[in-house]
Amino acid sequence: MNVPCHLPIVKQPIDMPARATNAVSSQLRPSEYTTLLIQALRADPQTIVGACALEIGFGSGVVLAALGDLGAAHLCGVDIEQQAADAASRMLADLGYAAICELFEGDMWLPVAGRRFDLIVANLPHFPTENGSVGDRLPSWSCGGPDGRKFLDEFIKGLAEHLRTEGRALVTHNAFVDLDCSRDLAARYGFALRVVLPSLVYIPTEKLRTMTDSVRQRQQGRTIHVYGPCSFGEMSIVEFRRTESRA
Ligand SMILES: C[S@@+](CC[C@H](N)C(=O)[O-])C[C@H]1O[C@@H](n2cnc3c(N)ncnc32)[C@H](O)[C@@H]1O
Repeated sequence: MNVPCHLPIVKQPIDMPARATNAVSSQLRPSEYTTLLIQALRADPQTIVGACALEIGFGSGVVLAALGDLGAAHLCGVDIEQQAADAASRMLADLGYAAICELFEGDMWLPVAGRRFDLIVANLPHFPTENGSVGDRLPSWSCGGPDGRKFLDEFIKGLAEHLRTEGRALVTHNAFVDLDCSRDLAARYGFALRVVLPSLVYIPTEKLRTMTDSVRQRQQGRTIHVYGPCSFGEMSIVEFRRTESRA
């Protein structure tokens, strides 16, 4: 059964609970993408100290926790899943960030309409598929629509309204969803895209099977590399900055 993975919901901020002991649920466990996003953030810590930071799609909340640890002054997060909201609010409270953290259960930019941030990060669902879940993950974890760009395009289009002039955004980006398309779209909205951390990630066979056929056929041998029974996809952490702020 196909499950819709994009619901126009916006809710009130989530109450941060009192400190509570907590473990990451297996459905929200960090992926290789999460790891690389944290690695890229740790490589440039001076841009995080004192920043007002936003994460779209916070999942377990571990990237927000890393931002807090790196010295962000304010943490804001949006996620569509109640399970993510519950887990992240517990963990961030447990880590002592309740006073500087606000989480919203809602859809992409809606909960932060009219607000701007110094740093925006996202590991969006952007696997090219219309099928629901892979393994024990929720369908909303990686389903990016047939070309994988459903949320990526929405994210890039919203940057101009949400990023402060000198701010930057860091995003995970599969190469097989077309880096040039993101670069061109960003340019139209006044942003430059820069690859800050290129990498290769393992694509489990059961996940590759759900990839839109036309994308798999076009990208195999280009950005998807198959060695025996194992497949790897090129991906990178990319940065968006306003074009005029780099002059
Ligand atoms: C690939 S996971 C990343 C989770 C976490 N940031 C990490 O790296 O471990 C994508 C996250 O985006 C969330 N998401 C999916 N659709 C969304 C939407 N329309 N608005 C906000 N968050 C969404 C999912 O619930 C999921 O937590």
